[in-house]
Amino acid sequence: MDNASPQSMMEPALSEAAAFVERTLDTLLPQPSGPESRVLEAMRYAALGGGKRLRGFLVLQSGRVFGVDRRAAGRVAAAIECVHAYSLVHDDLPAMDNDDMRRGKPSTHKAFDEATAILAGDALLTLAFGLIASPECHGDPFVRCELVSRLALAAGHAGMVGGQMMDIAFEGQEPPLPEITRLQRMKTAALFMFSCEAGAIMGKASAPLRTAIATYGQELGLAFQIADDLLDAEGDPALMGKAAQKDASKGKSTVVSVMGAERARSQAEALAHQALRHLDLFDEKADLLRAAAEFVVARRA
Ligand code: IPE
Ligand code: IPE
Ligand code: MG
Ligand code: MG
Ligand code: MG
Repeated sequence: MDNASPQSMMEPALSEAAAFVERTLDTLLPQPSGPESRVLEAMRYAALGGGKRLRGFLVLQSGRVFGVDRRAAGRVAAAIECVHAYSLVHDDLPAMDNDDMRRGKPSTHKAFDEATAILAGDALLTLAFGLIASPECHGDPFVRCELVSRLALAAGHAGMVGGQMMDIAFEGQEPPLPEITRLQRMKTAALFMFSCEAGAIMGKASAPLRTAIATYGQELGLAFQIADDLLDAEGDPALMGKAAQKDASKGKSTVVSVMGAERARSQAEALAHQALRHLDLFDEKADLLRAAAEFVVARRA
């Protein structure tokens, strides 16, 4: 990596990527019309105008490493941000974490209503698959199929949804650390892993390079979720745009609840360092991915 500090590289690159993802989503999300327009408004409300866009950024950067056309990668970046936005809409519902604020504004079920929020989440998930299945995403149908099946694995029962179920099942319990790690790998790291692997799939990378970047994404995702749990314990809700100190009150099982904040922070740093090692195979094109490893643990929002 060159002499610029990771943080000083990361900030402009992340905000540029966020603006690009926002514009892409704005064009790809349907415009409200007809008697069903309320769900379209809620989809746009949930997906636009906020969020760090870190998963989209990772797709764009892994695309860059493997020489993928930026517009095509932008479509996949928009798709993963739709899946992520859906996961947040459902995560905030009263039946789940019951959170009223998200990205500095009322959660979707607060701004609309619960039924609309459920439907908007469903439609964002479905839209994501439509976006990556389209020939505009990639000319090669085998590549599109591979993206669809990897996203299905990452988002479904073996990934995000399964992890969310464990998150609820473990409330009020003290599962052993490996179980919490498995929960976090499914709930959060699976979408990070897909985001990083997507560039390798689109660029038809060799198996070792694809595995390396996917493993980087998985470890980054684990570090990211520990940082989220630390922010819940000690972060500033005004910076985060969502409530803090919810996990302990709901009896959530996290690395922080099991290890305490100090050891959890060391664990997040160790994971970010491990993530970096998987980038050793790549040249300076991966420098922003290197910077992202530092960003995920140092972030305050
Ligand atoms: C929050 O993710 C949910 C977790 C998986 C911890 P982010 O912190 O990436 O949320 P946004 O997209 O920036 O709002
Ligand atoms: C959410 O984890 C992970 C998802 C899959 C949405 P959290 O419940 O800790 O995320 P926040 O803190 O509400 O953003
Ligand atoms: Mg949750
Ligand atoms: Mg939550
Ligand atoms: Mg949290």
